[in-house]
Amino acid sequence: MATNLTAVSGAEQQRELLAIAGRVLAGGGLGLFTLPDEVNLVVAEGKGSHVTDVAGRDYIDYHLGSGPDLLGHAHPAITAAVAAQLGKGTTFYFLNEPAIRLAERLVEAVPCAETLHFTGSGTEATFFALRVARAHTKRSKILKFEGGWHGMHDYALWGTVPSEASDYPRARPDSAGIPEVIGGEVLVAPFNDPERAVELINQHAHELAAVIVEPLQRVLTPRPGFLEAVREATRRHGVVLIFDEIVTGFRIAWGGAQERYGVVPDLATYGKAMAGGFPMACLVGRAEIMAALDGRRLPRTELVWASGTLNGNPISATAGLAALDVLSQPGTYEHLHRIGGRLRAGIVEAGRRRGFPTQALGEDAVFGIRFLENDDVKSWLDLQAHDRALGLRWGIECLKRGLLVNPNEKFYVSLAHTDADVDRTLEICDAAFAVL
Ligand SMILES: Cc1ncc(COP(=O)(O)O)c(C=O)c1O
Repeated sequence: MATNLTAVSGAEQQRELLAIAGRVLAGGGLGLFTLPDEVNLVVAEGKGSHVTDVAGRDYIDYHLGSGPDLLGHAHPAITAAVAAQLGKGTTFYFLNEPAIRLAERLVEAVPCAETLHFTGSGTEATFFALRVARAHTKRSKILKFEGGWHGMHDYALWGTVPSEASDYPRARPDSAGIPEVIGGEVLVAPFNDPERAVELINQHAHELAAVIVEPLQRVLTPRPGFLEAVREATRRHGVVLIFDEIVTGFRIAWGGAQERYGVVPDLATYGKAMAGGFPMACLVGRAEIMAALDGRRLPRTELVWASGTLNGNPISATAGLAALDVLSQPGTYEHLHRIGGRLRAGIVEAGRRRGFPTQALGEDAVFGIRFLENDDVKSWLDLQAHDRALGLRWGIECLKRGLLVNPNEKFYVSLAHTDADVDRTLEICDAAFAVL
């Protein structure tokens, strides 16, 4: 029987909803990350840089839906554009104008893009990018980097969160339920180690279809020369280089990591911010490689199959177009850098003043607070020295005081965050340090 939620207070209503979630959702949440019980919440609504939970508490949001809400929640330009599209129908499968216009916009914006293929999620985008690379090269193995996150499919979940060094290039699967046999197809190398990466690419070139990399790997910036070395070795051997820009695309620069770090891959995957908080992602790249998806040219048996019922969905595409219009205005990236830069510097200052070895790793528009002494963190394994328990406790104290953060993960900054938000955030961060 459905529960009557009308006559109860917000706090009771939230407790009741959490109890229902605990009963009917597998794992009690919507994915891998759930908030600790003592600070768990049900979001009621989001506006700009803030969200409110069902209990009526306000939070400054630094999770932003895990990145997509780069303009902030319920941006009026996106809301109005989507509202206008809703009355015209929500899904067609066949070509529609918003999807075509968004594809054109993305191909103009992304340095490596000549053509594009829409998918429903980032996981699908990286999965199909690898398949396209295999079809193009007629080779089957892929190389990824330890700690690199490329979604939830069986080729992505190797060496993503190991607690100790992998037996390179072999790695362990991250998830239960992944066939062991796929481990033979996935090579893993440490991030930011150009010699090791080039050696593996040279050794395995004859069987290597693709190298996939998050150019900003979670919160690790690429060291000068790393992406360049991988680019050079893959080009030399005809291995497809894929940048997973699902986080970095339109966030760390208009042209993503390719623009920011000055290295252009063969293919790239985009998601999150490109659809303005709606479900949509894509792969883009050189036309010669993307031709593996061209059913006008190839017989069905030679074609890469990458269909999806909601691919090119007009509602998501409309949201994406509206988001890109706003992001393309002057001042966007200056704002993100300034706000993110203030936050990073302020949190590090507060943490150190209170005696914690605080670092704000990453880029201004997306960074992670970690507590560790080593100030030369290059790889996933270097990062493992961080004080995870302290990160969790500090995150919980921030949540209790009104910051929506995912402890030990990332801070995402939006166009909607203001200097007043930063001032308040730094007060909260300091108070959280003080109680530890
Ligand atoms: C770099 C990167 N690639 C791929 C994905 C998977 O995208 P999705 O969650 O849309 O499947 C994510 C998700 O966080 C990501 O951060």
